Amino acid sequence: MGIKILGTGSFLPPTAVTNDMLAERIDTNDEWIRSRTGIGSRHFADGETNLSMATIAANEAIQTAGIDKAEIKLVIFATLTADNFTPSMACLIQRDLALPEDILAFDLNAACSGFVYSLITARALLQGSGGAALIIGAEVISRIIDFTDRSTCILFGDGAGAAVIKADETKEFFFSTGARGDDEALASPSAMLNENPFVRREAEEPAFLKMAGSDVFRFAVECSAKSITEVLNKAGVQASEIDYFVLHQANERIIASAAKKLKVPIGKFPMNIDKTGNTSAASIPILLDEMNKANKLKEGAKVVIAGFGGGLTYGAIYLTV
Ligand code: UT7
Repeated sequence: MGIKILGTGSFLPPTAVTNDMLAERIDTNDEWIRSRTGIGSRHFADGETNLSMATIAANEAIQTAGIDKAEIKLVIFATLTADNFTPSMACLIQRDLALPEDILAFDLNAACSGFVYSLITARALLQGSGGAALIIGAEVISRIIDFTDRSTCILFGDGAGAAVIKADETKEFFFSTGARGDDEALASPSAMLNENPFVRREAEEPAFLKMAGSDVFRFAVECSAKSITEVLNKAGVQASEIDYFVLHQANERIIASAAKKLKVPIGKFPMNIDKTGNTSAASIPILLDEMNKANKLKEGAKVVIAGFGGGLTYGAIYLTV
């Protein structure tokens, strides 16, 4: 049982920040950022919220899917920068898009693997149902960036992407996932402090994302290639048969290393990191939407989707479009 991607949508906030603009404020330069990451600029929310960006992306996905909203029975919202803990972002999407109430709606946090984990979860929940699912990846990651840390603040950007899918037994779908609990390599501290009057007040730490860049780099190269190889073995498909490898846009060099390990030409790895930076859970659905608009998601195309990031988490999906 596979999935059919009925529609896609995305949104990038209009405020674009180039490497040169960053270099005016921190000790970095365009040449270093481009050569180490492939990033030229990124977008930062300026008044937009996670919900407002996701709503635009989700509306577009529903419109391009051409379905009645009443068909949507599942909303999964992948994010690590939700506007609130509760109500969940998925519930607010149900309200703001006037989706039916007989729905299962929840948020999923698997950091940059969030969209991959969500697609796998949605496909399982849709089995045997005629309903559609709305899958969203959206981040305002600029909220948790430490702009005094030049090795992380140059990497990330904000945005949202969405897809509407249905179960389809004529399509193929295999997956391979992993989780390696680790709060040293990449962590964003809790925003919740234990502040009740009966306990000692905890020291407040700024709630910024912290990352051991080279550890995460090695993990990403290892686990993207590993999970892609595993999923292709499960599917009985050669890497050379794949039309597109849609990888989380974290760093052009990570993608190039995965391509090299898999012995696949880099041209089969679409990229938009140059203008988006790393948008965490939003990066894969934003890229899928760009590919859809460029008419690349043709019926029967063989596609691998792979994510990796905080948790640590990773996962790859092989599917036919
Ligand atoms: O979404 C998943 C999560 N994140 C990732 O996938 C990120 C994975 N990691 C990376 O992409 C890379 O490790 C980074 C881009 C973060 C860093 O690249 P790197 O090649 O691993 O650089 P490095 O951290 O080893 O630093 C090399 C040098 C250092 O200087 P020294 O000690 O050699 O003199 C840094 O201080 O580059 C310096 N450096 C910078 N220089 C200019 C670090 N950041 C900057 C900067 N501008 N922004």
